[in-house]
This record gives sequence, C-alpha cells and structure tokens, in this order.
Amino acid sequence: MNETTAAGTVPPSSSPAAQAGAPCSILELPPDTDRNVRGFREYIRDTLEAGGILFLPRAGFELSERERTLVADAAVTLPSRRERESRNGRPTLIYDPARGHILRTRISGPEREELEAMMARYSEWASSLVADLLPDYTGKLVRDRLTYRPCERADAQGLHVDASYGRPTEGRGMLRVFCNIHPGGRARIWRVGETFEPFARRFVPSARTPRTSRLEALLAHLGVTRGRRTAYDRLMADIRGQVKKDEDYQTNAPQRIVSFPPGSAWIAITDLVLHGASSGQHSLDQTFFLPPEAMDEPARSSLRILERLSGRTLL
Ligand SMILES: [Fe+2]
Repeated sequence: MNETTAAGTVPPSSSPAAQAGAPCSILELPPDTDRNVRGFREYIRDTLEAGGILFLPRAGFELSERERTLVADAAVTLPSRRERESRNGRPTLIYDPARGHILRTRISGPEREELEAMMARYSEWASSLVADLLPDYTGKLVRDRLTYRPCERADAQGLHVDASYGRPTEGRGMLRVFCNIHPGGRARIWRVGETFEPFARRFVPSARTPRTSRLEALLAHLGVTRGRRTAYDRLMADIRGQVKKDEDYQTNAPQRIVSFPPGSAWIAITDLVLHGASSGQHSLDQTFFLPPEAMDEPARSSLRILERLSGRTLL
C-alpha cells in the first residue's frame, strides 16, 4: 500500500478558498498487496471514512470479448444520433439490481439483455469487492443503483459532493465502487478536492434550508414520493448547489488531478470528498447507501458533521 503521487496539484494561492483543507488522500492498492496483513481492512475503512479514495490499479472488472464489442458499439449503447453526438457525459444508463433492468432506456432487443447481464454481473462483482475489503459493513449497506456511462465527457464537471440524485438518502452516505471499462486505452480523469468538513464549514453558514412542508411529509408517508426529503437532504442539496456556482472555490480550493486507467477500480464515500469528472468514457459505478451508525466513527459521516456545524438535528 502506498500513497500515490498526484498527476497534478493546483498551487496554493492567497484566495479565501485556498485557506482551508488539503486535497484528499489517495490510497493505492496494487494487485499483489498482501490483504492478510494485520490491520489492513481497518486501514482501508479508516481511509474511506476520512474522505480518502481507494485506488485499485489493474484490479478492475473484466469484460468478456462480447461485452467489449457491445460497449464499443455506439449504435447499441447510444441509439439516437443526438446521444452519440453528446459530449457531456449524458445520457447515462441506470440499472436497478432489485428489478433487474435498465431504467428508462431506448435500447431494445437482445443487446439490451446483454447489457443488463453485464451490469448485473458488475453489481455482484462490486458487492463481492466491498464484502472482501470492508467486512465490517457487511449486512449494513443497502445496494442501490448502478450507472454505466457510455457517453464521452468533454466538459469538466465542477467540484461537488454527491447528494441524492433525485431521491433522498435520509442521512445515509454513498459508498461507490467505480471502474473504467474503456475498451481502448483511455483513462478517466477526475479532479478531486478537500474532504467534507472544511468544505461544509465554508458553505453551511450561507445555506438556506426551508423545513419539510406538511404536504411533502404526507406524500412521503403515503408512499407517493420515494423516501422522505429530510433537512439533511435539503442542506446537502443547498451546499452542493453553492459550491458548483462558486468560481473562486472551483479555481482556488485545494485540488489535484487523478487519472484512472482502463482496468482500474476506485472506491470512495462520495458525499465525503469533493470530486468532479473531467474527461473519459465508459465507466461503471455501483452505489451502496451507508448508514452513519454502520461506520466505525459515525461522527465522520456527512450527517453528523452537518448537525455539528449547523447546531440542528437534521433527520
Ligand atoms: Fe459525483
């Protein structure tokens, strides 16, 4: 195990955004790492809970020959010309492991079933990887959806933390397993920033978070909306929105560039680290919801940090 050297780091400046925090740590785990060394799994868990990224070179999910052909065929994965010409990373394919199919897609026929089988296989692979590396989380994680990104990303995403994508997490963290499956040789490039607490310390004081309305609470109670949009979800959405629009922060906050080559995997609790994809094509990621109480140190969860900084109970 060793700490990787970043491909690039933005030099410190005198801007207010550059005053706090440091880019997150990246723990590289080569394939020949002895996983039976005492304290190995505790160290991995500690790295992730502290907002670090676990990087697994040459240990990613392997595609079959047929799957390589499928993902390389844009006419299959991006059926319309408009989709094929999009270079902003969208559309994405969302797979729900519980239902066993891709949601809201125009892909049809046997190719759709083949892609669904590949995504189901990735979901199982990611689950096994997490069970091996993070056994203390076994039985406590909730497997959520899986995303396949067949589309090229040519415009860089701003630094952000992940919050529920349209659905509330209700205070749970998002543990995500990524893999670059580009059938050629193209790396996926990320910009990564500081960890959650210094970021939240900067943006929470200016957050506006109206409380849940009675109507929203009623609709959630009746099952009309999926999940309950808690004060936590509102606050996360607010500070995520603030940071995306803050040009000083985007330019001057501590950050580094990280390159994930094809065949590599990486894991992070993505509400605990600032990140944004800069370029790349063909990645898979599986999300697991991580309840704060499942963590070794729940005080390091985004929920508990926000409650501490805001002085409020957020659930
Ligand atoms: Fe993200």
